[in-house]
Amino acid sequence: METQTAAWLTAVLPLVLLTSALAEKTSVYFVIGGSLTLTPPVAPGRISRILWKHDENLVAEWADGRAEPRYSGTFRGRAGLDTTTGRLDITNVTEADAGMFTLDINNALQGERYEATVIHKVPKPEILVQPLRCSSGSDSCTLTCEGNITEAEPVTYSWKMGAGDWTESEQSINISSTEGIQSVTNFTCRMTNPVSEEQSEVHPNPFFQRARPSSRRWLEVFLTVLKVVGVVSLVWALVYFVWRNRDAACPCVGGKGENAAQSG
Ligand SMILES: *[C@@H]1O[C@H](CO)[C@@H](O)[C@H](O)[C@H]1NC(C)=O
Ligand SMILES: *[C@@H]1O[C@H](CO)[C@@H](O)[C@H](O)[C@H]1NC(C)=O
Ligand SMILES: *[C@@H]1O[C@H](CO)[C@@H](O)[C@H](O)[C@H]1NC(C)=O
Ligand SMILES: *[C@@H]1O[C@H](CO)[C@@H](O)[C@H](O)[C@H]1NC(C)=O
Repeated sequence: METQTAAWLTAVLPLVLLTSALAEKTSVYFVIGGSLTLTPPVAPGRISRILWKHDENLVAEWADGRAEPRYSGTFRGRAGLDTTTGRLDITNVTEADAGMFTLDINNALQGERYEATVIHKVPKPEILVQPLRCSSGSDSCTLTCEGNITEAEPVTYSWKMGAGDWTESEQSINISSTEGIQSVTNFTCRMTNPVSEEQSEVHPNPFFQRARPSSRRWLEVFLTVLKVVGVVSLVWALVYFVWRNRDAACPCVGGKGENAAQSG
């Protein structure tokens, strides 16, 4: 019996040491409320005992002869152990499930360790414009801060106009060609949740209009005045010309009359 055990140890020990030497930390990610599956590498030989731990706490335990695995603490009702492969499934994952999962098969700690991390960050949003043909000629357009936030709620949205401050707002904003909007060069949106924050690329404002330099505006005013003065002068010149012509042409007619009046 003792020689048998010694022989077994001699055969198995190098394998155990080898496994330990190859100890790997596998990162597993999950989202809150989702599920987590830890699949150990195929164990050598038949599995007679399984022990899963989360940090220092027991998760699931099973030994030959037992009909059902035993689950512990918060994992009761959420964990499922496959006794032929050692695979562990956990549903309804919570923040508290983050940590290190370790596995012990047939009383030997397996090389694999599983570091579970919660992932519930917001994605980098994109600004979508509606209608697609939104242009400076449109009546109004809707900008939407878009991204897949299925696992990231609650999310809040903020918008920034040009170099202005972030303002918390709706996911969509309506813009139209008003004076205030015309001076905005671009828009940026941001998604925020309790653990993360992401902002979109800068999106050009379809209604942006470059302000005319003031010198040009004065030139325009000057040219307008000049035009008005020119037109008024032209009208006066015409009136004067007509009047002079009448004066010059009418002496024959009017002159005759005058002469007649004078002669009479
Ligand atoms: C797991 O989540 C489902 C749906 O979200 C719920 O119906 C079920 O009661 C939850 N189970 C546990 C053990 O919390
Ligand atoms: C959003 O992400 C979830 C997973 O987080 C995925 O199931 C779903 O298909 C995604 N939806 C879209 C529209 O991409
Ligand atoms: C966005 O607008 C701001 C303010 O006018 C400007 O400083 C910045 O360069 C613009 N960014 C891009 C990418 O056009
Ligand atoms: C934006 O415009 C759309 C369509 O014109 C309208 O349905 C929506 O309620 C508006 N949203 C806001 C925030 O004004």
